[in-house]
Amino acid sequence: MKEKIAKLIEQAKLAVEQSHTLAFINNVKVKFLGKNGELTQLLRGMKDVPQEERPMVGKYVNEARDLITELTEEKTRQLAQAEIDEKMMKESVDITLDGKNTERGSLHPCTLVANEIVDIFTSLGFTLGEGPEIELDKFCFQMLNIPPDHPARDMQDTFYITDDILLRTHTSSVQARTMINTKPPIRIICPGKVYRPDDDATHSPMFQQIEGLVVDEKVTLCDLKGLLETFAQRLFDSSTKVRFRPSFFPFTEPSVEVDLSCSVCHGKGCRICKGTGWIEILGAGVVNPKVLDNCGIDSKKYKGLAFGLGVERVAMIKYGIPDMRILFENDVRFLKDFK
Ligand code: PHE
Repeated sequence: MKEKIAKLIEQAKLAVEQSHTLAFINNVKVKFLGKNGELTQLLRGMKDVPQEERPMVGKYVNEARDLITELTEEKTRQLAQAEIDEKMMKESVDITLDGKNTERGSLHPCTLVANEIVDIFTSLGFTLGEGPEIELDKFCFQMLNIPPDHPARDMQDTFYITDDILLRTHTSSVQARTMINTKPPIRIICPGKVYRPDDDATHSPMFQQIEGLVVDEKVTLCDLKGLLETFAQRLFDSSTKVRFRPSFFPFTEPSVEVDLSCSVCHGKGCRICKGTGWIEILGAGVVNPKVLDNCGIDSKKYKGLAFGLGVERVAMIKYGIPDMRILFENDVRFLKDFK
């Protein structure tokens, strides 16, 4: 009996040693210590043991059970710990690794420039004026002294929807709308999309304009020059000069084209200013008294100043963009440069 017990202990030791999973060690427990396990079987054989030896054998059996219990429990603890360690390893996060960056977008160069221009004028006391892109002929042309069939319409041919509804060719339509509704003094800027059937490296069928209007008593062409000079110096730099050249617009009299000294070569002549030292940037003038009268403003008492610029054109000058079409292609490689 004693040998049997010793052998059983040896077998149990080996089985514990070879257990590599919790499921396996559980089976070992059942096999040796369970209700129908090896040890119980041995106890069943006690009846064959002589009476006087029974206490001794009982002691061995108890010692064997304690030993095997201890061995299997120790192994169970080890395997459980190993399982936790492995899980921790697999799920561990290396907090020293770089995070994944989500790409952030940026404002379009035209939006950047438009915002800057609007900021400059609002800081000079202008408020924003708004109007529809699909406009009545009346506001786009007639009130601005461009009657039907007048040759001046050719300056801004456009997309007609009906005979008197069209896509606006300039945001001067907002000036007309504002003047009929507002008592002077007026100081507004009107940013927005406009449409003309032009399409080449420096013209697009849709572009953005910012036009401005001042209506007050005693304002002159000198005020216009001072205003545009202040604007140009804030947009480019304080050495920027402004030059007026005579021009024609039906809604202003006198009318001027406004040139700025080239912000790249400062007047020496370069690729951007095509060697002239000057860049044309705006149309402007003193509002034609007929326009004021058309809009119900007394042209004897009030004078108006008006100007208009193309946002894409300013963006091209500011960022040295040679072809306007790049601005509309939405090529991310180009747009990324404006982050
Ligand atoms: N409306 C003109 C254009 O779109 C620009 C302009 C505005 C000229 C105001 C003079 C005065 O070309």
